[in-house]
Amino acid sequence: MPYFVVLGASGQLGSEILNLLPKEETLALTREQLDITDFIKVQAVLKEARPKVVFNCTGFVRVDDAEERTKEAWEVNALAVLFLAKVSAELNATIVNISTDYVFDGRKGAPYTELDVPNPLSVYGVTKLAGEFFAKAYCPKHFIVRTAGLYGKRGSRAKGGSFVDRILQKAKSGEPLKVVSDQVTSPTYARDLASHLVKLVETEKFGLYHIANRGYCSWHEFATTIIQIANLNVPVEPIRSDQIPLKAKRPSFSALVSVRLLSAGLPPLRHWHDALTEFLKSHEPDSLAI
Ligand SMILES: NC(=O)c1ccc[n+]([C@@H]2O[C@H](COP(=O)([O-])OP(=O)(O)OC[C@H]3O[C@@H](n4cnc5c(N)ncnc54)[C@H](OP(=O)(O)O)[C@@H]3O)[C@@H](O)[C@H]2O)c1
Repeated sequence: MPYFVVLGASGQLGSEILNLLPKEETLALTREQLDITDFIKVQAVLKEARPKVVFNCTGFVRVDDAEERTKEAWEVNALAVLFLAKVSAELNATIVNISTDYVFDGRKGAPYTELDVPNPLSVYGVTKLAGEFFAKAYCPKHFIVRTAGLYGKRGSRAKGGSFVDRILQKAKSGEPLKVVSDQVTSPTYARDLASHLVKLVETEKFGLYHIANRGYCSWHEFATTIIQIANLNVPVEPIRSDQIPLKAKRPSFSALVSVRLLSAGLPPLRHWHDALTEFLKSHEPDSLAI
């Protein structure tokens, strides 16, 4: 019987978690194998597998599409978590549910800790916050982990690669680069997050955590740093978010910091600049082909 189940196994975070878990003890499920909104099948699969830990790395992650495809976003980000939490609790298993910096409105103007009160601005943020509540209310053994600005080897399938992939691809194809400078995030390497998640689960110190690479920057600074590290001599024009009207509102400052990780015996993740440097050194942006 598998000890771990990883849902969303083909995603950029799910695939990194899979790399860290013992193959013989892990059941990896992609959306094709298990649609988490098919509640009857979810229940049947989990009850047969009887895992001890369920990593939920799924998500309706297209923030702008969520404004119109509200029902789908609600089903994946919230309702499915309710059912996962209920079944996990019945099995006495731990649920690890991944959430987002977009549960905040950005008005604090400083990094958000686990003690700050969420106030999402978008359907995506509201549905992810509802998912948090469901995980907490229905599964005593829960980890709710908020992260931000994720990138990784695999890239987000739903978003057509990670931000890093898209910047590199545009720079190499000679497309002009315009990136918002009035939204601040904590860019986070999916591999670093995955490694902390696997350690955090072992602690059994359940609850809410913020896990992101240390520090923060605007998306414009993130893009210029990618270009510099990749030795590409391409200008990146800073723009304001109101110059590219998008369907969903985004927080202007949603960097994350943790006041709880240390009490679980885990250090903060390394600085985002160091993580990005290592990622770019080892990364061939082939993920756009998946
Ligand atoms: N990306 C970010 O910047 C970011 C920031 C903060 C938090 N997060 C959260 O981090 C988690 C992981 O995101 P990610 O960046 O790894 O995204 P991702 O690469 O797009 O992975 C999401 C995964 O969810 C799967 N999925 C979507 N709907 C599903 C369904 N109905 N049933 C089963 N699987 C389904 C997708 O499968 P398909 O590809 O086959 O559709 C994909 O494998 C999500 O919960 C997201 O909300 C992400």
